[in-house]
Amino acid sequence: EKGGYEYFMHKEIHEQPRAYQDTMRGRVDESGRKVVLPDFHMTDKQIKNIKNVQIIACGTAYHAGLVGRTVLERLVRIPVETDVASEYRYRSPIVTPETLVIVVSQSGETADTLAALREAHANGAHVLAITNVVGSSIARDANDVIATLAGPEIAVASTKAYTSQLIAFYLLGLYFAQVRGTQTEEQVAEILAAMQALPEQVDAILAREEEIKGYAEKISSHKHMFFIGRGLDYAAAQEGSLKLKEISYIHSEAYAAGELKHGTLALIEEGIPVVALATEQALLEKTVSNIKEVKARGGDVMAVCYEEDAKELAKSVDAIFTIPKTLPLLSASLSVIALQLLSYYASLALGLDVDKPRNLAKSVTVE
Ligand code: M6R
Repeated sequence: EKGGYEYFMHKEIHEQPRAYQDTMRGRVDESGRKVVLPDFHMTDKQIKNIKNVQIIACGTAYHAGLVGRTVLERLVRIPVETDVASEYRYRSPIVTPETLVIVVSQSGETADTLAALREAHANGAHVLAITNVVGSSIARDANDVIATLAGPEIAVASTKAYTSQLIAFYLLGLYFAQVRGTQTEEQVAEILAAMQALPEQVDAILAREEEIKGYAEKISSHKHMFFIGRGLDYAAAQEGSLKLKEISYIHSEAYAAGELKHGTLALIEEGIPVVALATEQALLEKTVSNIKEVKARGGDVMAVCYEEDAKELAKSVDAIFTIPKTLPLLSASLSVIALQLLSYYASLALGLDVDKPRNLAKSVTVE
């Protein structure tokens, strides 16, 4: 059932090109220039009336929600907040009938997310669920569902569910942009074309997975490490850091690169591994200067960046993993693959049970 792979996680990492395709299938019209969401119940009027969006989830799904926030804000220009479900419920969130609440959950059974959904309903919000299980409690209780079609995910560490959630957010953002007129037809078509290229680009990354083993083995002998980035790179860094903690038990922190010097830089010492995500072109120069700050304190830096920037970055880092070029909005769909592989190979190097990390359950049905 593992299809020749030693672990489900590895198999599921490799299933991502297909999961991307399946999640897009039937949701892009024949011209390839327009998003269609056939089962969507929200009327155009309701969509036009949305004043704010709240994205609620736990763990990896929360990290997808962080990407979702940027995607919706950039494409639709609506204010969006993303919160973890166990915090959202207890902070008396301000919800109006013009609030769209989006809950994100692979399993559709996470207790805190389900309770937050019910709270949002009670406050009169329209609730949209992004979930991988269409018959789940969350799917049943929501007003609208966008199903991610990642297929069953067995490994406790979520991989293909996360990236399919990103695809769902891109589709949703484009759909809202069409209805609200915040992007031109040309802009929508350009993003859709870039999305269609993602599966092949993921395949190209997976074909080079051996390249990440060296750095993964190196970090496996450390107790602490950091992931840094800005913008969407920071969102992807947070997911990479959780993945590593979960399956390798190495303590790691994801940091907004610009925040380092406000305290955390004090922890950088000789040899500490730091993965720097550097795909946000508009912020690249600033990220590079943060990398230099880390290097000056002895950090052992691996950059994840586009090929075209590799030469320049090579001057400031110890290792590089390049990813194929995509639009700024879509970068996490590619950079995170490198981070999944990094945590997988670190866990493997430590001889741990990759699929069943200690103390954790696949579906968390207690609050
Ligand atoms: O099923 P859900 O997406 O609601 O699960 C949420 C989290 O428990 C889950 O993403 C968890 O963080 C993963 N084990 C991370 O890999």
